[in-house]
Amino acid sequence: MPQKDGNSPPTHQDLLNELDEWRAKTQAGGGEKRIETQHAKGKLTARERIDMLLDKGSFQEVDAYTTHRHTDFGMDKKRHPGDSVVTGFGKIDGRRVCVFAQDFTVLGGSFSEVQGQKVAKIMDMAMDAGVPVIGLNDSVGARIQEGVYSLAAYAELFWRNTQASGVIPQISVMLGPCAGGSVYSPGLTDFVIMTRGSSHMFITGPEVIKTVTREEVDLETLGGAMTHSTVSGVAHFTADDEKETIELTRKLLSYLPSNNAEPAPAVEPTDPAWRMDDALNTVVPTDPSVAYDMRDVIHGVVDADSFLEVHEHFAENAIVGFARMHGQVVGIVAQQPLVLAGVIDIDASDKMARFIRFCDAFNIPVITFVDSPGFLPGTDQEHGGIIRHGAKIVYAYSEATVPKLTVVTRKAYGGAYIVMASKYTRTDMVYAWPTAEIAVMGAEGAVNILYRKSLKNAENAEEQRAELVSQFQEKFSKPYAAAASGHVDDVIKPAETRPKLIAALELLRDKQVSSPPKKHGNIPL
Ligand code: HXC
Repeated sequence: MPQKDGNSPPTHQDLLNELDEWRAKTQAGGGEKRIETQHAKGKLTARERIDMLLDKGSFQEVDAYTTHRHTDFGMDKKRHPGDSVVTGFGKIDGRRVCVFAQDFTVLGGSFSEVQGQKVAKIMDMAMDAGVPVIGLNDSVGARIQEGVYSLAAYAELFWRNTQASGVIPQISVMLGPCAGGSVYSPGLTDFVIMTRGSSHMFITGPEVIKTVTREEVDLETLGGAMTHSTVSGVAHFTADDEKETIELTRKLLSYLPSNNAEPAPAVEPTDPAWRMDDALNTVVPTDPSVAYDMRDVIHGVVDADSFLEVHEHFAENAIVGFARMHGQVVGIVAQQPLVLAGVIDIDASDKMARFIRFCDAFNIPVITFVDSPGFLPGTDQEHGGIIRHGAKIVYAYSEATVPKLTVVTRKAYGGAYIVMASKYTRTDMVYAWPTAEIAVMGAEGAVNILYRKSLKNAENAEEQRAELVSQFQEKFSKPYAAAASGHVDDVIKPAETRPKLIAALELLRDKQVSSPPKKHGNIPL
């Protein structure tokens, strides 16, 4: 404390100067050299990332002065104000958020007891205030020097992630090599966004893997952005660099409500509710063996340029994402006939079920576009547990109480008809296009099973087969039998889909349904 002489108290200016000196220290992170190293890797510092994420000047830091209290392994000489994380709150597009950014320049952003306490405080604030929490992750994992203190701090974070799940949106932005506990917390959050090239996620790194299993694998193959967005499904989004990653984070947030009691942010509609896209009338080929891009359907129906695809590169036979209908946020779930004919497999089941549950938890209506020949056959799928994974879809739709609308564009065969938001999962409105086929299976398959023996010995087998196929097609390859029995609510022209859905969403805006009282269900995991 600077004093003019031994006896006189400091002036107010002295105290303010002292605070400025402290503030400068809190901004220094791990020091200039380490900041240079961070920049040399093409990475920003924790504070630069926060500045880029939040509205200019809105960041309010919390716990900037906190330091760790450990002395083992020379730790008493490695104290940095704020330790290895920057925490606080601010605004994104004027909406309040809480944020933490791990500081790789301080002991590799390692998760210390103090980092745990700071992140816990900011998460508690987010829960009390009912605002999203965004984690900017860049951490080597548990701080080895702190032993069980670090592990306990991680466990506290995981507990908070679980408590916050379904209450406030949690977004994890991955911006560096994240190991061990640093990936479990993101794994518990709603959305994981990775940066190609510079972010990695793994429980155990290449060295440990080599020691234990002798397997040799490089960092990128093990846990790079494309690995997690295409193979494991851990990452929901990827971006080319930090700037794009942070822009994507801001964009994602624009679709999410602040908490589970608030509606998602609506925008002033610019696309007319009654717009009818005539191209939709011919988008589905009348030959059921010819594929088409379901994204053309989605783009033709939702507000112009409003579709934000989630999990774009994972289980591409399914499509999920957020969009707007007349300015209001909706969740889109669909099959993609271009990939594996839109069949439902294990990964597609997980992808769709998780997204439906997010939408339901945060009061976002779900619109489903169905074109699927059913579940993927094979021992890989059966032994991998397609029964319990596929069951997640029907579970997620059945427990969802948000407005649910379905459009059957073409095939809704067998299990795909049932699980993909049929009337019986309490879907509010099921529409079918004239190209819809609602059957236990395709006409050819049905005839082969039912008439295999009789056709085998028949003289004019091919003629008979063709006649039977035509009968089955007439009955089931059109939507009118399903409509006649109320299994679908309406058969509509494709071009009418947008106004029909918007009218139904308007009706269902204040939908209230109650579920039986229970502690929680037991979704097949
Ligand atoms: C403390 C650590 C550390 C750790 C690295 N550092 N790991 N400090 N605890 N766990 C320090 C380094 O000494 C270095 O300090 C700085 O962080 C940066 O590390 P580098 O190795 O120089 O960085 P880089 O070359 O980019 O390599 C990053 C890395 C590598 C690939 C992540 O550091 C690594 O493999 N670290 C170990 C990862 C790990 O196994 N973590 C524990 C997971 S177990 P200086 O002073 O030189 O800057 C876990 C338990 C919870 O998390 C599990 C719950 C499920």
